[in-house]
Amino acid sequence: GLAAALDERDVEEMFAAAKAEKVALSTVSGYRSYTKQETIYSRKQKTAGQDTADSLVALPGSSEHQMGMAMDVAQRSSSQLNSGFGKTKAGKWISENAWRFGFIVRYPEGKEQITGYAYEPWHVRYVGKAYAKAIFESGEPMEIYVSSHRLAVYEFLIKQTNEVLP
Ligand code: DAL
Ligand code: ZN
Repeated sequence: GLAAALDERDVEEMFAAAKAEKVALSTVSGYRSYTKQETIYSRKQKTAGQDTADSLVALPGSSEHQMGMAMDVAQRSSSQLNSGFGKTKAGKWISENAWRFGFIVRYPEGKEQITGYAYEPWHVRYVGKAYAKAIFESGEPMEIYVSSHRLAVYEFLIKQTNEVLP
């Protein structure tokens, strides 16, 4: 299945590769506590309203940042967290290369109805290299990949089950 924990060596490898390819990448947000997510969420609720907040910030308790599986990246010295990031050199590099290091751009453009979130070119989620490649190549967000592979996983587990029922 998808990686259950982020491998920091892959993060280091990604930042080293970006640097070698002359892309100035930095991390704006990594792990968040519940309190931190709550602060971000309620601030967005107040400034942008409920619906916008829900399209941009995960409910406290349900953010990939709280799971330690996601990072927000930016072009160094700009810390731009808006859809414009996707058009920057760093944003393009991330969308084309993050998969090589086990990450996917989790909330892609045009897939808002499926992911439930606005386009976030800066938010990458770790799934491990094999799945990142498969999801990237599918052109679909993680939801589609996971639901189309769930049956295969169940079939695998059923085959592995040899218990004798009482
Ligand atoms: N911005 C993403 C959805 C989060 O809050 O986890
Ligand atoms: Zn994020």
